[in-house]
Amino acid sequence: MKKIILTIALGAFLFGTTFSQKSNIPLIGSKAPSFTAETTNGTLTFPDDYGKKWKVLFSHPQDFTPVCSSELSELAYMQQDFVKLGAQIAIISTDDVAKHKLWKTWLEGLDYKGHGAQKIDFAIIDDHTHFASKEYGMLHEPTSTNKDIRGVFIIDPNNVVRSINFYPMQVGRNMQEIERILVALQTADKEMVCTPANWEKGDDVIIPHYPYTNSELAANPELKDDFYNVGGYIWFKKEKK
Ligand code: BEZ
Repeated sequence: MKKIILTIALGAFLFGTTFSQKSNIPLIGSKAPSFTAETTNGTLTFPDDYGKKWKVLFSHPQDFTPVCSSELSELAYMQQDFVKLGAQIAIISTDDVAKHKLWKTWLEGLDYKGHGAQKIDFAIIDDHTHFASKEYGMLHEPTSTNKDIRGVFIIDPNNVVRSINFYPMQVGRNMQEIERILVALQTADKEMVCTPANWEKGDDVIIPHYPYTNSELAANPELKDDFYNVGGYIWFKKEKK
């Protein structure tokens, strides 16, 4: 009897640790979780299959819902901007691929806000099992146990998570803001700088260390063509226009 109880307890423990999947948010700086799923573009292992591109992963609560449909329409309209930035968009919605395909066809026939019919090139990922959503912490259980909130993960070419945004189901995302974060990260990496509040592409950037003392700046007036500071320690580098 004792042996049977022990076997059941051990089995339950192993089942629990092996098969129960916790919903964890991968943190900025951590490796992006990998998963394989069916999509509207075939089988995808994310993020690996996108190689050295930047990846932007969006989660959605449900297919054929108004806010989600507006977001996918805007993304379809902007998708070439992301391609030009070397980035690949991917969409998770907590529905299956058969429904995704119907939704995609319907969206491609829509003239949203006068943009005309837009083809959707990016993959819409089947996540009716919630596996990928849990890997990325996109199921926020106090809100819903079976529908994702609106999550955005920006993942760099080395598959490291670089930015995380979460939005409530009721609020459609500002896709220009997502593009702005991507450009800011690419600028930060390329120029080893930071970007100030409300920065837009082409604006001056912040240097995260003091490049010069005020006396060096005074002794070398030509430096003022490239650098200035605000309040003594907020050093800016002028971006070439
Ligand atoms: C929507 O996309 O319209 C939506 C989805 C889930 C909850 C609320 C709105």
